[in-house]
Amino acid sequence: MNTIDALGHRIVFSENGYATLNEQLAQKQYSKLFLLVDSHTHEHCAAYFLQQLSSTQDIEIIEIEPGEAHKQIDTCMGVWETLSDFGGDRKSLLINLGGGVVTDLGGFVAATFKRGIDFVNVPTSLLAMVDAAVGGKTGVDLGVLKNQIGVITPPTLVLVDPQYLQTLPEQEFRSGYAEMLKHGLIADPAYFEQLSAYPPKEVVLLTAIHHSIHLKNEVVLKDPKEAHLRKILNFGHTLGHAIESYFLTVTDRPTLLHGEAIAIGMILEAYLSTRICGLPIASAERIKEVFSAIYPKVDFDSAVIEGVLDLLQHDKKNTHGSINYVLLSTIGTPEIDVAVSEDLYPEAFAFYQA
Ligand code: GLY
Repeated sequence: MNTIDALGHRIVFSENGYATLNEQLAQKQYSKLFLLVDSHTHEHCAAYFLQQLSSTQDIEIIEIEPGEAHKQIDTCMGVWETLSDFGGDRKSLLINLGGGVVTDLGGFVAATFKRGIDFVNVPTSLLAMVDAAVGGKTGVDLGVLKNQIGVITPPTLVLVDPQYLQTLPEQEFRSGYAEMLKHGLIADPAYFEQLSAYPPKEVVLLTAIHHSIHLKNEVVLKDPKEAHLRKILNFGHTLGHAIESYFLTVTDRPTLLHGEAIAIGMILEAYLSTRICGLPIASAERIKEVFSAIYPKVDFDSAVIEGVLDLLQHDKKNTHGSINYVLLSTIGTPEIDVAVSEDLYPEAFAFYQA
């Protein structure tokens, strides 16, 4: 798969990717190498990754607990302290080997340690490959509120190797797939239709991973700091994040993975798009049909809806007290900074439930 040129760095794939990483290690002569993993990627991915390195330099492995619940500043404290205890300095390199939690948190740790050290993202989940590890957003959650603390700092390299997907649980795979469907909805209707055939054949998936990264990268290149265009990547995320946060707070319902929550968010926001931006109802129905065939239905009673709407108020994309949505006027044509009247929310949830 061809290399993709990103902001001041490259996104490289598989064998060619390891060759590029090995060149970077040889050229930069880092004082110390650190590998950040969680317990899953330590067990399933670290040995394979380390085998691909030609450097004989020692590499310290730093392990964090897996899962969104650990994407917190306390976890960063532990990693910063370990970097410091093991002699990390400004010429050190941190390699983040993991899913979105590892790449987001590791990127933030690296971007802030000693005012910034180089870091490389090696995403091991589909979500991290097509979204989290690409585009330079780094950070952690603040309690249950998603991604409230962070900086936009690009890695020095992103190395995508679909080999890691072989050990990824199906639920995690589906979670990442939601971001790929989103890329179709905001930029490429034919791609959305292609992805509607689930599960994808392996050869289709490999091309699709590359295409999704390409689509996201094109947006990031035009607007790295999310002043305008990059907001389109948040389609489904305004309601989706509130839903994800709500299910993290309640103990009597299973937690939803990020992609499962934003899949619901995209159905709800497709409905809002019909009411505000002229998206044909047939398109919203098609979006619902595609997501409903892949993701389990979640039951929203009135208490849940109320809890989700409370959390909406904290959404980081709020400006001047109003909530700004990305909606669609057609599949493939997003509109940013759209205000939504609160009285449309019950209709949107009714559309999802029906
Ligand atoms: N995940 C959305 C973005 O990177 O902008």
